[in-house]
Amino acid sequence: MHKPITVIGEVLENRMVSDSMYLLEISLHQQSGFLPGQFCMVNWVEQPTTFGRPLSILACEDTKMQLLYKAVGSGTNRLASTNSGQQLELLTPLGNPFPKPDSTAPHILIAGGVGLPPMLSWSEIYGQSADVLCFGGRDGGDIPWELLSDNWLVSVDNNMNIPEGKKVFHGNVIEMLKSMELPENATVLSCGPTPLLQAVKKQATENSWKCFVSVEERMGCGFGVCRGCVVPTVAGSYKTACKDGPVFNANDIKIGDEL
Ligand SMILES: Cc1cc2nc3c(=O)[nH]c(=O)nc-3n(C[C@H](O)[C@H](O)[C@H](O)COP(=O)(O)OP(=O)(O)OC[C@H]3O[C@@H](n4cnc5c(N)ncnc54)[C@H](O)[C@@H]3O)c2cc1C
Ligand code: FES
Repeated sequence: MHKPITVIGEVLENRMVSDSMYLLEISLHQQSGFLPGQFCMVNWVEQPTTFGRPLSILACEDTKMQLLYKAVGSGTNRLASTNSGQQLELLTPLGNPFPKPDSTAPHILIAGGVGLPPMLSWSEIYGQSADVLCFGGRDGGDIPWELLSDNWLVSVDNNMNIPEGKKVFHGNVIEMLKSMELPENATVLSCGPTPLLQAVKKQATENSWKCFVSVEERMGCGFGVCRGCVVPTVAGSYKTACKDGPVFNANDIKIGDEL
């Protein structure tokens, strides 16, 4: 795995790829790399905030990095107004990635909202034709269509803003999964909001699928010191999402209101 480094990067491009998502391209002053599921902490060189913001790495090769994010609060809104040429400070790559395929058994990738980057990069690096790629958004405007190949099955909560020619499932991503004939010996990988991960774990348990999830905890330091991101384990202890995760075997952790 690549060793985390603190590196300055210049914004090359920061543009909207859906009604709510931005694709950020950064030129790093030093080479870096990543494995799908790893993330970086993003901060500003000018007037940095106390803590950076964790964002999954969509792509990073040599000195070029791509991130995909939604503006939801002070930090990500500030990022959305960052222009080409402005400098960012990145601590990257952090955390443990999703596992590589250990056999030819198919994988079911389930992304919700901004859980898309790790699933996109995993499918691009390790994907096989038998894999099932699922993405759940709110409506058509929420979907970054240009980033999704036609192999992606897309579910939407409502039928607003669906571009002509695009096929979608009307319902949530779990209903879409239930409507499909799925492989028996699959491994499920999922990243998205907690209710989605909880539902994915339930489905995986019922179908005896192996299941790995990436949790979206609020983070401070990003490297295991502040313990602001702890996740309860089934064994009764706590793990840090940033250092022990963010990817966990779903059977090892309690997700959401699981007892
Ligand atoms: C490992 C990891 C990878 C992530 N990858 C991405 C990504 O690729 N793209 C992306 O858009 N977002 C990603 N997130 C979520 C992102 O970090 C938060 O949206 C961001 O930190 C919010 O900062 P803010 O200052 O804009 O929002 P704030 O003003 O701090 O909060 C605004 C709202 O966002 C919620 N929020 C804040 N932090 C998180 C969080 N970590 N997870 C879920 N909800 C949060 C708050 O509860 C609040 O409702 C990731 C989070 C983690 C932990
Ligand atoms: S964010 Fe500090 S320990 Fe995880």
